[in-house]
Amino acid sequence: LDQENVGSLKQQIGKLFEESLRLTVPDELDVEPAIAPCQNPRFGDYQCNNAMGLWSKVKGKGTQFRGPQPIGQAIMKNLPSSEIIDSCSIAGPGFVNVVLSKQWIAKSIQRMLVHGIETWAPKLPIERAVVDFSSPNIAKEMHVGHLRSTIIGDTLARMLEYSNVNVLRRNHVGDWGTQFGMLIEYLFEKFPNVEVVNDQAIGDLEAFYKASKQRFDSDPAFKERAQKAVVSLQAGEERYRTAWARICEISRRGYERVYERLGVELEEKGESFYNPYIPGALELLSQQGLIEESEGARVIFIEGKNIPLIVVKRDGGYNYASTDLAALWYRLNEEKVEWIIYVTDVGQREHFEMVFTAAKRAGWLPAEDNKYPKASHVGFGLVLGEDGKRFRTRSTETVKLVDLLDEAKSRCKTVLIERGKAEQWTAEELDETAEAVGYGAVKYADLKNNRTTNYTFNFDQMLSDKGNTAVYLLYAHARICSIIRKSGKDIEELKKVGTLELAHPDERVLGFHLLQFAEIVEEACTNLLPNVLCEYLYNLSEDFTRFYTNCQVVGSLEETSRLLLCEATAVVMRKCFHLLGITPVYKI
Ligand code: ARG
Repeated sequence: LDQENVGSLKQQIGKLFEESLRLTVPDELDVEPAIAPCQNPRFGDYQCNNAMGLWSKVKGKGTQFRGPQPIGQAIMKNLPSSEIIDSCSIAGPGFVNVVLSKQWIAKSIQRMLVHGIETWAPKLPIERAVVDFSSPNIAKEMHVGHLRSTIIGDTLARMLEYSNVNVLRRNHVGDWGTQFGMLIEYLFEKFPNVEVVNDQAIGDLEAFYKASKQRFDSDPAFKERAQKAVVSLQAGEERYRTAWARICEISRRGYERVYERLGVELEEKGESFYNPYIPGALELLSQQGLIEESEGARVIFIEGKNIPLIVVKRDGGYNYASTDLAALWYRLNEEKVEWIIYVTDVGQREHFEMVFTAAKRAGWLPAEDNKYPKASHVGFGLVLGEDGKRFRTRSTETVKLVDLLDEAKSRCKTVLIERGKAEQWTAEELDETAEAVGYGAVKYADLKNNRTTNYTFNFDQMLSDKGNTAVYLLYAHARICSIIRKSGKDIEELKKVGTLELAHPDERVLGFHLLQFAEIVEEACTNLLPNVLCEYLYNLSEDFTRFYTNCQVVGSLEETSRLLLCEATAVVMRKCFHLLGITPVYKI
């Protein structure tokens, strides 16, 4: 049993077909194997779809082949012998269907049990990436949109990290805008001695923001001072820098509380960080002839867009776009990442399209979207309330994230107490389980949807123990753990001495599904779609249920093998939870 990471199942099969293609059509070296899971499992597990495409490539070139079918035959014949494949057949115009060997599937699962799920990590063609996520704006509220960004971004980062990519988790906080002028001026007004300002003094930073905004809108003299304050801040005047730093610090502490509860790690490199890099970045774009003068501003015109990308405002100040151009340059050239992923609501798509297009025209990014380095915008839809409108509590207040998490947890706790867990468990166990299930439910309800669609926030639905919810999945996992516990067998020992076999059809289906884990993670990463992993996890628990209903585990002749299959399912489920940022529970 070697412990080398061999890539996903699909990648392994791809490698076999790659060899075959090289023998079959030696003059077409650029052709990559087209491997897909079989639509209909009756035909096999995977299919190689190269024959048709190859036929249209070679038919004009005096080929020996007389159509796509003979090409398919040749691809099949030239496959190197391998223990992976049990049998092959040809369907239609040259599709090669592959049935995997169940001995091999069983062996691969057993190898994973011994050497760990890390050996199943997919191989991605990059080494380093930035995931730019969460990124709230200082002093303004961190709203549900930022929660989505935090949850989705964290999952993407976790999946890339599992795939051995070095991920720079970046919190691109809005800490450098004109709003600071009024905040600072208001601070000076309230606390003439900035040094003594502490969290308690300011209290609720959001309320502070609102009050200063009101002052800004209603008093022209204040407004003027606030505008001057921006200039003083940007010129680096100490009193202003200090006030700015205080406000950021208080804000930061608020975010950190949310991140800690969500178990999310982030490194803050806010807008202010990139400020010194803006002139240089704009100079480079200017040298390329990209920047033009328009109505007193400096802009980049983008083909197909009605409005240009403003990079220097009329008053000479920089903006969101100038910062993003500088950040993009910095990430590519200083941090040397190959992939930059931005997680924001879909409303910012246009902005990122324009920034990426400018970077392509400047030659910072390749023109082709399938080449690295690459920049991708991961847009997501709105969170809706029961009424189908933007999620709010009661009247006009937007929802406070912390309140949401509190409520999810306390609802879970109530259910656990109703089930008598307060008597069976320690207070700590009760609390930890309620938290894991509650927070997990909030995250999963968000992640299971295709991120581009809006989703409706509904506690009753997400906390239900039926259907595609975290509660159902966490319980399914705990149940598997209890099967293993109750067998009284030492599972670590079984991993070493036992043999896994997939004799029953439902065992074969479950085993194959387990083995597809890596390619699912690969797909979820490549297409930046966490819901793909959620779907996989849900189907996995269904496959397990079918197996468990039809195959007796404890006390059967196949007990050892089946316990190993249970354990493998639990291991893969746990890894899914981990990638989704959900804490697994072991007892219910
Ligand atoms: N602060 C922005 C907002 O709240 C999100 C920043 C996203 N990242 C970026 N590099 N523009 O909408």
